[in-house]
Amino acid sequence: MDIIDAIIMRKSIRDFKADPVPKQILKEILDTATRAPSAENSQPWEFTIIAGEVLNTIRQANIEKLNSGAPSHPDLQTKGLPPESIYRRRQIEIAKQIFKLMDISREDKEKRDLWMRRGFRYFNAPAAIVVYVDRSLSYPRTLFDIGAVTQNICLAALHYGLGTCIANQGIAFPEVLYEFAGISESKRIMISIPIGYPNWDFPANKVVSTREPIEDISTWIGFE
Ligand SMILES: Cc1cc2nc3c(=O)[nH]c(=O)nc-3n(C[C@H](O)[C@H](O)[C@H](O)COP(=O)(O)O)c2cc1C
Repeated sequence: MDIIDAIIMRKSIRDFKADPVPKQILKEILDTATRAPSAENSQPWEFTIIAGEVLNTIRQANIEKLNSGAPSHPDLQTKGLPPESIYRRRQIEIAKQIFKLMDISREDKEKRDLWMRRGFRYFNAPAAIVVYVDRSLSYPRTLFDIGAVTQNICLAALHYGLGTCIANQGIAFPEVLYEFAGISESKRIMISIPIGYPNWDFPANKVVSTREPIEDISTWIGFE
């Protein structure tokens, strides 16, 4: 696949077919994706790739955490977007697009809650890649490198007909991943990437997120 096509075609997939993803394909994706650049070639990324019954156990444990009212506390701490900001408006816009396709009204708390829970279940993906770094590495330092390898994973997945969704929700309760995926507490869990063959009949998978025109977000200097 042409690189430009891949970048344009990549999108967040939020429902998958049940078909398992062969281990060899996941291995090839990671082999390719780890060609990503990293500061001083430090390659801070490490991965745990989860499928099968273990992934089902983790899905269930995340939902039990939610049901218990436990606040999510990902290692990747992000503050909410500033209210009334353009960033918050973009967040609302994508949510509106998805809820429209999924026929979820503003008032329908039950459907909204069910929707929110999908992310904690890795969107029913047959596999999930959890990306982490050693806690000895400074936090901001690794963010760029992890972003690069994460995007590479999502792009390489397309070559095999696979879809992905980069997801904070899947790492909201790190203790679940320590316990059931055996990830060491000495690791900072950065992101999860549910991966599988997209269910194209699922309405939310048809969403095309918008982007700002480049003229509005760029300044050009020294050109004719
Ligand atoms: C760091 C990061 C965390 C994200 N976490 C979630 C998540 O927890 N749940 C979710 O549904 N989408 C999540 N997304 C996907 C974004 O919502 C999505 O990338 C954005 O709306 C643009 O849509 P697109 O990926 O289809 O282009 C995340 C994306 C990034 C980069």
